This record gives sequence, structure tokens and C-alpha cells, in this order.
Amino acid sequence: MSSLSIDDINLSAVEFWAAPDAERERVFRFLRDEHPISFHPAPAVDGMGAMENGEPATGYWALTRYEDVMYASRHPELFCSSRGGTNLVDIPPEIADFIGSIINMDDPRHKKLRNLVAAGFTPKALNKILDQVQVRATSVVDAVAEKGSCDFVAEIAAPLPLQIVCDMVGVPPSGEADVFAASNIILGVGDPEYVQSMEQLMEAGMGLFQYGIALAQDRLDNPRDDITTTLMQAEIEDENGRHKLTTSELGSFFLLLVAAGNETTRNAISHGMLALTQHPDQRALWTADPDAVSNTAVEEIVRWASPVIHFRRTATRDAVVGGQEIKAGEKAVMFYNSANRDERAFPDPYKFDVLRTPNEHAGFGAGGPHFCLGANLARREIKLMFEELFRRLPDIEITGEPDYLQSAFIHGIKRMPCAWHTVRD
Ligand code: HEM
Repeated sequence: MSSLSIDDINLSAVEFWAAPDAERERVFRFLRDEHPISFHPAPAVDGMGAMENGEPATGYWALTRYEDVMYASRHPELFCSSRGGTNLVDIPPEIADFIGSIINMDDPRHKKLRNLVAAGFTPKALNKILDQVQVRATSVVDAVAEKGSCDFVAEIAAPLPLQIVCDMVGVPPSGEADVFAASNIILGVGDPEYVQSMEQLMEAGMGLFQYGIALAQDRLDNPRDDITTTLMQAEIEDENGRHKLTTSELGSFFLLLVAAGNETTRNAISHGMLALTQHPDQRALWTADPDAVSNTAVEEIVRWASPVIHFRRTATRDAVVGGQEIKAGEKAVMFYNSANRDERAFPDPYKFDVLRTPNEHAGFGAGGPHFCLGANLARREIKLMFEELFRRLPDIEITGEPDYLQSAFIHGIKRMPCAWHTVRD
């Protein structure tokens, strides 16, 4: 640790997020130990200093310890989501309307809108789509079984969450490829393979937004059993009285759901397969008794992967976290990846342990009003995907180096080869 100095650490630097995972882990460990809350400049956008409302963007406080991340997440009255949004740089007002939806709102508005769709995500409601998740997991394996090898990300990890979220919101199979491409761009910010300019990002966001509006308009005439129909029929009450959602609110909800439900789970499954290949003892524990181990294994995969690296809050008034004063209007960024490796919260945090209990990780957020709405769905998808893989392709393993997404926001794997010899019905 002695070779690190806080003066050389910039969590906004492109090079930092292009570095190998192990190097980043080393830096976050140093920060947790020596500088648990440190200040970093705003990241550059398109190679230039980022701007906020015509001014150079302000930097942010990086929260790296579990306890501090939990504190900020659970005190929305001190650390809010609506002022400037939840990314490192404030959302430009002209796109604030359609990017983010409830993730960039505070209660009471956040709560009203979240409650509208929350009914579709409870364990009881999920039982209805459980069969569907199993059918999709089977067909994903069917499609590759005879090949003996494939790209794990594109052919195994990606299709399941994509198809399920599209089923839920009512996107037909013909629209899945467009949703996939657009969400890759939206969550691929920072990686030149996906995003070369702000215009491209806007175009992808606008495309999904418009797609959601068109679907919603269709559901007005042809109601179905999907979330889009529920949203179209719902009414909320606010300062303007009782009214239906605006098309803009619907479009951005749609955008959030498909972007959030897609990449995150894909990356959890990819990191999970990599970890299981690297830790055959843990894999053996799981495959020996899936009924007993699946639930803890899935939580450990999400902790281990930390598919979402951070979300930001903004201080509503002067506050103190972990002994650090954060002034009203300043940004506080919760690094979930670091919280999930905090030695103070997890014994032996660098051990991939499919039996880890308790495991109150911050992978789905650190509690509070914005806790991941899709957590139960994601858990089911990860569990059924691995159970199907273990049953049908019992010796599947990763056979080459993963190609990582370059991003400060999503801990992603773009490509990763896998192979197997045995196929079972
Ligand atoms: C392993 C997979 C997933 C991970 C790691 C993940 C992670 C997260 C995180 C970190 C947050 C922010 C929590 C906060 O600010 O407190 C979040 C929010 C959210 N997630 Fe997930 N997520 C996953 C899967 C899903 C799925 C499958 C869906 C839906 C189909 C979904 C929908 C949402 C929504 C709508 C929100 C916003 C909730 C709000 O603002 O109230 N997520 N997720």
C-alpha cells in the first residue's frame, strides 16, 4: 500500500477505469483505509472538461466505506437524487426530462411513481413470470448446446435478462435487438466501442424513449398483461390533481426499466461464470446441492460482481458523513464496489464464498427509497440461469480472458469465450 498516494488518485480519470480490476481494488482498499472520503474532479466528457449549466462541472466526494455508503443511501433528506441527477456530472436540463425517471426523483413524487410499477416486481407477482424465466433459460441453452463453445456474454448472459425485461414491458421479439443496442450505448458511456459522442448517447436514449411512447400509445387501444398497460391505466395524484402519466413520464420509465433490467443482470451472470471458473471449489459446493446453496451463491455473485459501480447523491444541506463535512449542494458518490469489499463489513471480502452468510451487500443499492426495484427478478434470473447451465452443460467454463467494458458506472464484460464437452437433456 505504501506506494500509493492520494495525490495520484483520480477516480474520474479514464485510465483509472481502463486499468485491470486488481489495480482498482488496490486503490479502493487504500482509500477505505487512509482516505475513506476524498474529493475528485468531475470527469471529462468527449475529451473536454464537463460542463454543468454553462459552468465547468464541479467534482464530488467519493464515499468508499460500507458504513458511509449505507448512511448516504438511507438519509435521502440529507442526500437527494433530484438535484442534478444521480450521475457524476449534472444532467443537462434539456435531457433531464427523459433520462432517469424515478431514479432521479425524490419522494413524494418518486414514491408515487415507483409504487405504480412496484406491484409488478413483488415475489408474488414474479411467480407469474417465473415459468417464463425457466422457459427462456432453457431456450438460451438449447440455442448453444451443440456448438461446444461460444461467446458467453452475447449468447448466454445477455439474452435471458433482455428477453425477460422485454416480455415484462411488452416489447415484441422483433424489437429486442434495437433495445439491446440502445441500452448498450446508454450504459456503455466511457467505452469508445459503444459511445463516441454525446449525440450518439442522446440518439440512443431518444430512440428508446420514443419506442416506449409508441408502445404506450398502442396499449391505450390494446391493453395487455404488461407493465406498460399498467402504467397507461394508472393515475397519480399530485399538485396538479389526479391525472394519468404524461407520455414523457411513460417514455422515461420505459427507458429506465429496459436499461436497468438488462445490462446489470447480464454482467452479474458473466462475472458469476468467471468467478465459478476461477474458484472450482465454490462451484463444486454449489453444484453438489443447488437447492441449499443457490440463494447464498446468487447474493455472493452480486456482491462479487458489483455490476453497478456507483450512484451519486447531492447534499440538501450541510452534512457530516464519516467525519467529513459535505456542504449543501455538493455531490456525494456512493461506490458500491468498494463498500462490497470493505473489510469492516465483510470478513475476508476478497474471498468468493457461495455460502457467505450474512451478506448484506450494496450490489442492489445500499437501502433507502431507491433500492433496486428489480432485485427479486434479477435474483431469479441468475439462479435459474446457473441451475440450467449446471444441469445441461455441467463442465462449461470460461476459456479465455474477458474483454472488460471501460466504464466508471457499469462493471461490465463485453466478450468472454466459454466451452464445454458434455451436453445433457
Ligand atoms: C444484478 C442485477 C441488478 C443490479 C446489480 C441492480 C442494481 C441497482 C442499483 C445499484 C440501483 C440503485 C439503488 C439506489 O440508488 O439505492 C438500482 C435501481 C433500480 N433498478 Fe436495479 N439492478 C439490477 C437488476 C434490475 C432489474 C432486472 C430491473 C428491472 C427489470 C431493475 C430495475 C431497477 C429500477 C427501476 C431502479 C430504480 C429504483 C428507484 O429509483 O426507486 N434492476 N438497481
